[in-house]
Amino acid sequence: MLRQSQSHPQVELHNHLTVTFNESLAHDVREGLTADRKRLPSKYFYDSRGSRLFDRICSLPEYYLTRTEMKILGDHAHSIMQPFARGDLVEMGSGSHHKISRLLHAVNGTAGAQLRYIPFDVSRNALLEASRELMRRFPQLCIMGYVADFTAHLHLLPHGSKRLFLLFGSTIGNFPGPEAVGLLRNVRAIMAPDDRFLLGLDMVKPPHNLNAAYNDSRGVTSSFNKNILTVINRHLHADFNPAQFDHLAFYNEEKEQVEMHLQAREAATVNIADIDLSVDFKKGETIHTEISRKFTPESARILCAHAGLEISRWFSDAQGWFSLVELVPRRG
Ligand code: SAH
Ligand code: TRP
Repeated sequence: MLRQSQSHPQVELHNHLTVTFNESLAHDVREGLTADRKRLPSKYFYDSRGSRLFDRICSLPEYYLTRTEMKILGDHAHSIMQPFARGDLVEMGSGSHHKISRLLHAVNGTAGAQLRYIPFDVSRNALLEASRELMRRFPQLCIMGYVADFTAHLHLLPHGSKRLFLLFGSTIGNFPGPEAVGLLRNVRAIMAPDDRFLLGLDMVKPPHNLNAAYNDSRGVTSSFNKNILTVINRHLHADFNPAQFDHLAFYNEEKEQVEMHLQAREAATVNIADIDLSVDFKKGETIHTEISRKFTPESARILCAHAGLEISRWFSDAQGWFSLVELVPRRG
């Protein structure tokens, strides 16, 4: 573990998943795979292989989200960072260093001299790799990393400084309505009046663009989706054969969301030794692994309002394909 060590005095790492990871995985797998409609929580995609596969997704030609959000960040970084020459940048689901680097570059003078970066991610490897790269690029920056679950552990964050909260990549869209509101409310609850929250949202667009983004021609998204089975095999001694499942992703126009599944090619029985569970699959049966909701300006406003957040500024690309909304806590 990377600690506040002599070799890296600028980094401090807190790991809150070491004890609980296998227990929550066991609980979630049992609950999800014994349900009538089988499902798995998407946070389990991200072991070190999963994080690497996700990074590859981000640079796929079909996956317009990352480059669009990066462009918006580049265009508006100065103005976004203007109130934050000092303070804490708290990034939930931080993943790689690319997006935060855009913001840090925009800070005048000795980049990051007065700033502390607080990445918060379930993927220890992604967090370590991003921190190493940031230390190299911004030697003045202090980093306090949390290997933790942002749906459960936000209360661990340090208080005291002015804070900019960040949730990029339309990660909020991976949560169904009530859960998304709950997560935003939890952030709202720890915000001081001067804090800000920058939220990335992928917008509704023609279905063929959405379908292509989640069905890339190189099969990286398919490998990413199937990686959740490998994670379960390793941690719970299960015998999933990922090759017996197909990646299935499609845009549901009515619900304005992409839905991701793993579909059994043939009937199969899977044994999950550590939780003493065997799971039968019929041919064609699916495990629901992920949703990715797409927003309209109106649905975005409603989501934020339900969470007690007010949109102070709205940044977008020329096509309106992706939005970064700056949020402030609503008074009262
Ligand atoms: N912010 C990056 C990565 C998005 S992918 C980007 O915009 O490109 C989602 C990230 O959130 C991954 O790094 C994953 O490990 C992390 N993650 C997913 N669920 C999480 C949870 N419940 N708590 C903390 N991190 C989570
Ligand atoms: N937040 C990303 C999104 O909704 C997550 C993601 C991208 C994803 N590609 C995926 C999740 C493929 C599961 C499968 O776009």
